[in-house]
Amino acid sequence: MAEHERDAVSPDADVDERALEGALRPKRLTDFVGQDRVCEQLSLVLRSAQRRSRVPDHILMSGGPGLGKTTLAMIIAAELGAPLRITSGPAIERSGDLAAILSTLQEGEVLFLDEIHRMARPAEEMLYVAMEDFRVDVVVGKGPGATAVPLDIAPFTLVGATTRAGLLPAPLRDRFGFVGHMDFYRSADLELILRRSASLLEVELGDDAAAEIAGRSRGTPRIANRLLRRVRDYAEVRSDGRLTLETARSALTLYEVDAQGLDRLDRAVLHALLRRFRGGPVGLSTLAVSVGEEPETVEVVAEPFLVRSGYIARTPRGRIATPDAWAHMGITPPKDAAFGAADLFTPDDDPAQPDPAADAHPGTGPSANAGVQSKP
Ligand SMILES: Nc1ncnc2c1ncn2[C@@H]1O[C@H](COP(=O)(O)OP(=O)(O)OP(=O)(O)O)[C@@H](O)[C@H]1O
Ligand SMILES: [Mg+2]
Repeated sequence: MAEHERDAVSPDADVDERALEGALRPKRLTDFVGQDRVCEQLSLVLRSAQRRSRVPDHILMSGGPGLGKTTLAMIIAAELGAPLRITSGPAIERSGDLAAILSTLQEGEVLFLDEIHRMARPAEEMLYVAMEDFRVDVVVGKGPGATAVPLDIAPFTLVGATTRAGLLPAPLRDRFGFVGHMDFYRSADLELILRRSASLLEVELGDDAAAEIAGRSRGTPRIANRLLRRVRDYAEVRSDGRLTLETARSALTLYEVDAQGLDRLDRAVLHALLRRFRGGPVGLSTLAVSVGEEPETVEVVAEPFLVRSGYIARTPRGRIATPDAWAHMGITPPKDAAFGAADLFTPDDDPAQPDPAADAHPGTGPSANAGVQSKP
């Protein structure tokens, strides 16, 4: 994918940022803000295992980047008072890599396997057996004379994390006794996270500034913490160091993060969709060309949030802007804008007849709306 500069609101973190994040990670379940249901369920799983003096079931955390999967994995080990071993799918290239880890685990140890969907296939099969029977089959020798020697391993708890739960093979998913789905955070929770981070960073954060930053953080603690650092930098250099509503707004305007957390690329996409294509429908590649990006960049980097925020809808005929998109960008929709065709949003109880002309020329004027009933 073409490298796109968007540090401010990217949900991903680079190496430097991960180092900074360590300091802001809550260490215990009681400090972990939000995700109440997951936390409560998790707490039960851990407590009941402790009561029975058994290792807890294997745990899978699924959810988008920056929502707290790694943080929770560390908390699980801390709550159990167990040692933690950390590895990741891409680090396990051969089953031997996994065997080396599994065979040296201590009893009760927590093994955190990040990006578990990216593990090599043969290792995956070894993991099935290890998870279920606490055993690895070590292959001794090569070729026809090779034999599998079963080796018992210490009971452990696997904590897997994935941003793509759908990519996990069913046999692997089924071996997790508990799956926690991490969701985007409510603004009130992000405010709490921001206050906690501000006190760790020893900066003064006003309530209204916290609300302002939270509102622009796309439901993601990682983005909230990052915007907090940007506002702090701004406040230190341009004013007296206190994070007020005023400094938060000025700083975030400077970094081109708007009131809903949209950045320059998001706005460029919306702008093109509204102005050049009258709200669509328009095909992804046409839209991408008009903002000077690769289709993949638009699809992977900008679109998910625009869709989740209800600004863009994906339809069989292409992308269309919703009424909220026009409102957010402050542009008055033309009378024939696609969303006027409300049927585009209704479930397909009345499957619209595919219109070949519209398919061939997505978004090229009124013909793209052919076949769609418009309101009188
Ligand atoms: N519930 C929370 N309360 C406080 N801080 C949080 C919470 N969730 C995440 N954070 C903070 O957000 C940052 C990112 O969290 P974390 O690294 O756990 O995300 P992740 O889901 O593992 O992301 P990735 O998929 O990129 O690995 C960390 O600095 C962490 O401190
Ligand atoms: Mg992580």
